[in-house]
Amino acid sequence: MKAVLTSGWGFQSRLTVQDKPAPGKPGPNDVLVKVHAASVNPKDWKLNYHIAMAASPLLVKRLPPLFGDDLAGTVLAVGSKVTDFAVGDRVYGMDMRLRTASLAEQTLINQKRIARMPVSLSFAQAAAMPLAAQTALQGLRKGKASAGSRVLIIGASGGVGTFAVQIAKIMGCHVTGVCSGKNVQFVRQLGADDVIDYTLGDYRDTAGPFDLVFDVTSYESPNTCAAMMAANGWFVSTGGDLRSMFFTPLYRLVGRNATTVVVESWRADLEALAAMVDSGTLGPIIDSEFGLADSEQAYQRSRSGRCRGKVVIRLVDEHGC
Ligand SMILES: NC(=O)c1ccc[n+]([C@@H]2O[C@H](COP(=O)([O-])OP(=O)(O)OC[C@H]3O[C@@H](n4cnc5c(N)ncnc54)[C@H](OP(=O)(O)O)[C@@H]3O)[C@@H](O)[C@H]2O)c1
Repeated sequence: MKAVLTSGWGFQSRLTVQDKPAPGKPGPNDVLVKVHAASVNPKDWKLNYHIAMAASPLLVKRLPPLFGDDLAGTVLAVGSKVTDFAVGDRVYGMDMRLRTASLAEQTLINQKRIARMPVSLSFAQAAAMPLAAQTALQGLRKGKASAGSRVLIIGASGGVGTFAVQIAKIMGCHVTGVCSGKNVQFVRQLGADDVIDYTLGDYRDTAGPFDLVFDVTSYESPNTCAAMMAANGWFVSTGGDLRSMFFTPLYRLVGRNATTVVVESWRADLEALAAMVDSGTLGPIIDSEFGLADSEQAYQRSRSGRCRGKVVIRLVDEHGC
């Protein structure tokens, strides 16, 4: 099968499509998926890319496919304990464990990490959802978002932020999004009640108070956002760098409501998101689409930090070819 691997090593490494053996038979709880589409998350190049770069030149050639967490595709085979999925089902999901690499024509994934795709979406649209939409959902829950909560979403125009704005509105929150000027109208169209253009100045002393500050950029901290927080308000970070990943939860030690969301894929969450999509209240935003052979360009686009929604990689066109 075709899979994305690295060629070269260290800073010379580039993603290329190569032939690799197909995954073996599914384990008892595994589903073998023919991947129709995958999507790119910053974690892919922050972590997986560096694992490949750190491996010795000799090891690089032997590495299994490592790239890609999100997938949408059709079931090719199921393990002995899988009763909820059958061959031919259209599924979507993600697994951050290295075993599941979605930039490959076939991959194995644990049955608890997938669900049936929203019926109203194409494979490319469905592949844009699992990691980013579940991060948004789980982050909002961790920050105790509920009807009437005043929620600030910093990074509202990116992969996670576009879902967070929409899901917070579905939860009945009053949503303020933060993005650059070129995305203000776009974030408003997603449903945000108010939008702040961060290029116009430091809003942190004037905006608020917010019951939840959901920082998707990882540039902020409970301290830098203190003036915007309501009493007992929550600060939730997606922990996009080591500082915010490890230090944000430590604010709990001094009595602050602060935490980091570390996304996990759960069937119940994927089903809840699919129901939102099929009821017409939630939709993925696609920044750009690439073919498998152009995975390196897709990663470069994500690395730009300027994506509006998600970068998708198609392995099969919508006619199944
Ligand atoms: N812990 C977890 O489980 C988890 C899960 C998912 C993601 N993450 C992390 O969360 C972060 C965001 O992920 P993502 O997929 O949403 O990334 P992304 O799609 O690459 O985010 C791009 C967006 O960030 C916006 N942005 C950049 N600088 C900004 C600023 N100063 N203020 C407000 N917005 C700004 C850009 O908007 P403009 O062009 O308008 O500036 C762009 O729309 C990453 O660091 C990722 O690693 C963590």
